[in-house]
Amino acid sequence: MSRVRVAVLVSGGGTNLQALIDAAARGQLPHVELALVLSNHKNAFALQRAALAGIPTRVVTRRAAGSQEAFEAAIQTALEQAGIELIVLAGFMSILSAGFTDRWPECILNIHPSLLPAFGGPGCYGLHVHEMALARGVKLTGATVHFVNEIPDGGRILAQKAVAVEDGDTPELLQRRVMEQAEWILLPQTLERVAAERTMEREKSDV
Ligand code: GAR
Repeated sequence: MSRVRVAVLVSGGGTNLQALIDAAARGQLPHVELALVLSNHKNAFALQRAALAGIPTRVVTRRAAGSQEAFEAAIQTALEQAGIELIVLAGFMSILSAGFTDRWPECILNIHPSLLPAFGGPGCYGLHVHEMALARGVKLTGATVHFVNEIPDGGRILAQKAVAVEDGDTPELLQRRVMEQAEWILLPQTLERVAAERTMEREKSDV
């Protein structure tokens, strides 16, 4: 059985990447090969996590590329060179244009720290999402894994997990609870499910 080659795109700390690395080490991603970690920031701690796990890394910055088009073309080249079949956005803080997402229909997964469609779209990322949730007074929030299309946070939802907001929560406390109780569980589970489906489709078309 051949595994699906997956690239994880990151920008920062990479705790979701770590959840994938740990799940793979526990044997929970039998259909996944973590083949590449690509960052748009050269100092992202996620790169160190990848290196420690022995996963090849690449850095592609918007600044060095010069334009959004050139940035996305450089990402595309890196993915093709690594033979990537599925992409995971795990804290990748750059919106990808239709020119890129159209080339990867239902092949890009994103983890978002709210129950979409609440608190999604441009400007809704990282800690801001939890600030917005607390400001609005929601009692239940959570995480969503969805396919990525040309609409920011607008692609088909694959999985969601709810997390309770507690009295006295700060954005940081809520972010940590959403990560621990939802993101780090949901992302590996959903990636494995999609990769297993792709493997089955591939085997069927090989017959
Ligand atoms: C995570 O909470 C992820 O859901 C969020 O950024 C954080 C990255 O943390 N992503 C978004 O807000 C995307 N719109 P990590 O680098 O530790 O995985």
